Amino acid sequence: MAHGLLKGKRGIISGALNEQSIAWKVAELAHAEGATIVLTNAPIAMRMGEINKLAEATNALVIGADATKDEDLVALFNGSKEHLGGELDFVLHSIGMSPNVRKGKAYDDLNYDWYHQTLDISAMSFHRMMQAASKTNALAEHASVVALSYIAAQRVFPGYGDMADAKALLESIGRSWGYYLGMSKKVRVNTVSQSPTKTTAGAGIKGFGGFFGFAQEMSPLGNAPAEDCAAYCISLFSDLTRYVTMQNLFHDGGFSSSGVTPKVMDHFMGE
Ligand SMILES: NC(=O)c1ccc[n+]([C@@H]2O[C@H](COP(=O)([O-])OP(=O)(O)OC[C@H]3O[C@@H](n4cnc5c(N)ncnc54)[C@H](O)[C@@H]3O)[C@@H](O)[C@H]2O)c1
Repeated sequence: MAHGLLKGKRGIISGALNEQSIAWKVAELAHAEGATIVLTNAPIAMRMGEINKLAEATNALVIGADATKDEDLVALFNGSKEHLGGELDFVLHSIGMSPNVRKGKAYDDLNYDWYHQTLDISAMSFHRMMQAASKTNALAEHASVVALSYIAAQRVFPGYGDMADAKALLESIGRSWGYYLGMSKKVRVNTVSQSPTKTTAGAGIKGFGGFFGFAQEMSPLGNAPAEDCAAYCISLFSDLTRYVTMQNLFHDGGFSSSGVTPKVMDHFMGE
């Protein structure tokens, strides 16, 4: 049921690759809540064409942008302002990729060229986005920016590799831009730390099934589905959360605060 929470708001949603993508669900819900949106993804990811289905369903324009290229991002913000007819009220950063993780390079045997790429694509791209938004004066007063993170920023999850470092950097970048954009334009910036979720990026992590199952059993509410992550993002884009900023917000069914649960203990209880 829609509530008109984003009625009249304009925004950019990055990272919708296919129907499993968290960004896909955010785009659908933003549209249902009354927003007008621009979708963006790396030109190479758009070649598969799935994003056009989403664009049609959400009445959105698609502007390709490689999030590691400043000129693409400047064109994205200028083009979005022009198409949507004004400054932007919200931006979603939903971008992550590690060549090391993809190619099975363990944390103690990283390829450093790929490590640079991991940090650039998955974290510095968030800085680049905010800097491009700031330089093009694309954000409205009280706009809201959200990036998606994972608890490997705080704790070690073997298999998540150099993405853990990227997420730690991403969360720090969110805090810093939250300060600067808050001072200049009352813009709020937060990261949402989401449960393991079955998406293309998620499935690329070695041992993902184990992360997913463990978190499911360790969370009083169970893992948070992508649709609910989308709903949380919408609440952060709405006017109901105008003073929430510079936070890393866990959306994880209680996983981050749980010590142990009976389900997990069962695995270790003898007769
Ligand atoms: N799936 C999970 O378990 C999980 C958990 C917590 C956080 N997250 C985070 O959520 C975000 C979205 O991931 P997802 O799970 O929906 O998977 P996904 O694979 O659907 O989305 C990742 C997106 O990043 C885009 N991307 C990669 N390189 C890019 C570039 N250079 N420029 C622009 N876009 C680029 C991809 O095209 C893709 O659309 C990521 O930041 C991910 O780390 C995912």
